[in-house]
Amino acid sequence: MSIADLMHKPAVVVREDITLADASRVLDANKVGAAAVLDGHQRLVGMVSERDLLRSVGIGIDPGSASVGEVMTRDPIALDTTDPVASALEIFRDHRFRHLPVLDGGRVAGILSIRHVVRVAHIEDVQPAGSAPIGLAPRGLEGVAVAETAVGDVRGEEGFFHYRGHNAVELARRCSFEQVWHLLVEGSLPNDAELAAFTKRAVAARGLPAGVDDLLRALALLPDYAPLVALRSAVSFTGAALGLQATLDLSAEQVRAECLRLAALTPVLLMRLHRHNQGLSPVDPEPDLGYAASYLQMLTGERPTARAARALEQYLILTMDHGFNSSTFTARVITSTGSDIGSALTGAIGALAGPLHGGAPSRALAMLDAIGSPDRAAEHLREEIGAGQRLMGFGHRVYKTDDPRSTLLRDVATDLGGEQVAFARHVEQTALQTLAELKPGRRLYTNVEFYAGVVMNSVGIPRDMFAPTFACSRTVGWTAAIAEQAANNRLIRPSALYVGPPPPQSLPDGYGAAARTDR
Ligand code: ACO
Repeated sequence: MSIADLMHKPAVVVREDITLADASRVLDANKVGAAAVLDGHQRLVGMVSERDLLRSVGIGIDPGSASVGEVMTRDPIALDTTDPVASALEIFRDHRFRHLPVLDGGRVAGILSIRHVVRVAHIEDVQPAGSAPIGLAPRGLEGVAVAETAVGDVRGEEGFFHYRGHNAVELARRCSFEQVWHLLVEGSLPNDAELAAFTKRAVAARGLPAGVDDLLRALALLPDYAPLVALRSAVSFTGAALGLQATLDLSAEQVRAECLRLAALTPVLLMRLHRHNQGLSPVDPEPDLGYAASYLQMLTGERPTARAARALEQYLILTMDHGFNSSTFTARVITSTGSDIGSALTGAIGALAGPLHGGAPSRALAMLDAIGSPDRAAEHLREEIGAGQRLMGFGHRVYKTDDPRSTLLRDVATDLGGEQVAFARHVEQTALQTLAELKPGRRLYTNVEFYAGVVMNSVGIPRDMFAPTFACSRTVGWTAAIAEQAANNRLIRPSALYVGPPPPQSLPDGYGAAARTDR
């Protein structure tokens, strides 16, 4: 595969004296993210991207009068059609460009986008001088399969995801949390007898190990208490209190038993932390309540309505697993070292905590607060995008069409009703229109986080508990991945392409002499 095969050709070109507004129209009409800027002799003088145009508008430049020449990247690095794809990858990586002009005999022949390269990067070999060849995966490992799994998968282009072959949205519409939990961890949908036995084991597993509650109270009273960080630490010391062994030394059955124990305990830890933090006595889960209903009962001390419990249950089922996401990968990497399940879950929660992964649901609601009222939506969202901000609850690495989780959660939120839901629906519509207009071609849709916040708010979960609630349901998916990794393990240990100063670098004369004499 050569650069000439991958690039967009012919190149979309503009002159540097046209206005930003005209350049934007050219990019839109051709559905591309960047154009080459040519002088009167058809020579390349710059590159201009949608990002340049948006950034300029964001800092107050008038697109109707400013010219492309004022904002473009002048004298850009250019590729030749004969260059290897690997050198394009290196330039994208080192200079953080997203588009590069490609020359053929000195004339602009096409434009190569990082997206073109990412699609094929994993099959290209990069061989730095003097070292063994290694396959350089694209940044972010986008499009690279790093393991085999039978737990589930996401088909981003189709807007579909499944758990062990079953449509996850259908499972959330029709099944209980425990049925889907059994499916993911034990491998099949349970019959009545299996479900009863599994539920009994899950309820028994909620018992707190000795000594843990004192630690939870101390953690909850820290001055900078943050629930997700506290939950991460609580899972870590609960693993220690349970004396969890290295998975390398456990049978597959023992691994699954420890997975069930920790997944059942996680919401108990979270709710006890919350109540200690609020100065309230902890509430034990009632044994006749399922996972979702007991979640709300431990939170408030009261049995929830069936409607609220079911709405939460549907959210929890929808977020149990989602392909080979960052936190699942983290859990599998830790398990691959043979480490214990407590370590794998602690690491997974750490990965989930990032705003680009699971830490966003309260930010989506914060965006609704910042907008305040329906009439402010269009202006606010336009300003945010113009300033280079991302709209929380929109966009996804894998889904390039409707996120099926957001579609069901929109229905769940609508059934719950209320003013906030109507407002959220208005903001969603406005955001989608604004993104389509200002970020054409990026295929940005509502993601799970947008309505997740609305649903959780409606059933009474405090805002700082949104991300930890996500962590509780995702623990089921993590434990399914941990069990799968442990059952067929190979240490995950990739390589990196070294790009620093060529070794060996000599130390400056006399350097370190003081350390030698002072000892
Ligand atoms: N708002 C505005 N523009 C966006 C958004 C957004 N929410 N998301 C992506 N874009 C734009 C980017 O600015 C970029 O534009 P450019 O080509 O002009 O530079 C283009 O779309 C592609 O963006 P990438 O960063 O390449 O997309 P990536 O796949 O890495 O990002 C992510 C996915 C991180 C989820 C991103 O869409 C985002 O930041 N969204 C907001 C945060 C959020 O909602 N997170 C929860 C995700 S759901 C989950 O993990 C459970």
